[in-house]
Amino acid sequence: MVFRVDGARALVTGASRGIGKAVAVALADAGADVAVSARTGEALNDTVKAVRAAGGSAVPCVADLSHEGAGAGLVAEAVEGLGGLDVLVHNAGVIAVDEQGTSRVVPLEHSGSGDWRPVVDVNVHGTVEVLRAAHPFLVKSQRASAVVMSSVAGVMGTPGMESYAATKAAQISVVRSLAVAWASDGVRVNALCPGWVATDMTGPMQAAGVSDWLLSHVPQGRWLSCEEVAPLAVFLASGASSAVTGHALVADGGVSIAEGGLSGRPKPASPFAA
Ligand SMILES: NC(=O)c1ccc[n+]([C@@H]2O[C@H](COP(=O)([O-])OP(=O)(O)OC[C@H]3O[C@@H](n4cnc5c(N)ncnc54)[C@H](OP(=O)(O)O)[C@@H]3O)[C@@H](O)[C@H]2O)c1
Repeated sequence: MVFRVDGARALVTGASRGIGKAVAVALADAGADVAVSARTGEALNDTVKAVRAAGGSAVPCVADLSHEGAGAGLVAEAVEGLGGLDVLVHNAGVIAVDEQGTSRVVPLEHSGSGDWRPVVDVNVHGTVEVLRAAHPFLVKSQRASAVVMSSVAGVMGTPGMESYAATKAAQISVVRSLAVAWASDGVRVNALCPGWVATDMTGPMQAAGVSDWLLSHVPQGRWLSCEEVAPLAVFLASGASSAVTGHALVADGGVSIAEGGLSGRPKPASPFAA
């Protein structure tokens, strides 16, 4: 039972698809009621159905976290719908994209401010806003846990994704500071750092040629699924992790351990080499 979150009131941001959707469903499956957010209500329809099918109440909330002030509005809406807040899984995040909106891997020397500002806006400013807005509600909970979806890119060198990696490292830094600052309020704060997960965000990296190269660095040699990541968020939200705060939990198929070329798998040349 210690792994369950029965009766918890949870907000999962970026829950329309991918990792966030899987986390919302896993939390509902473990007993939580879940507010879910994305930039449009329509995008949340499937998640809302899946959360309800898993046995939880679902509260859809719409917010574009690239806009200043949106985080506060989102948390207020979620708290109103849930009647309070025990668990925050702040998962919404972006990577640099091209004109078509497709994820873009670009060496720093060829990147521009368009590869940086939108990523910093959502991944750093959006994260800070949501955490700041959640704090007064989390302190009222007897089981408060905040989980920020960072990335293994925040703990290892990730060439070509510098803006993304920098913002993911910033999230871990904020988590560590808040874990100390908020411990006396009874609020735990942790980061979850997945490796390469098959989602829309990594769509272009799953293409033939690129995928082989990427996975050659992963000891487990495969893409992770959203359903493998989601239970770890439930763990960090649950009483099973009551002594864990300020931690960056890496779930990456071993890529961060093998970085430096010791994964033991043959390595094709980088498709991004100049
Ligand atoms: N996929 C990976 O390999 C991987 C690995 C490590 C960490 N992560 C992290 O995990 C999180 C989810 O990634 P994913 O791969 O599941 O991504 P995804 O499939 O692209 O989903 C991103 C989610 O964030 C929401 N979102 C995007 N921009 C937003 C904005 N401006 N305001 C509010 N919500 C916004 C999206 O909602 P709408 O577009 O519907 O508004 C969607 O629900 C991200 O923080 C990512 O950095 C991913």
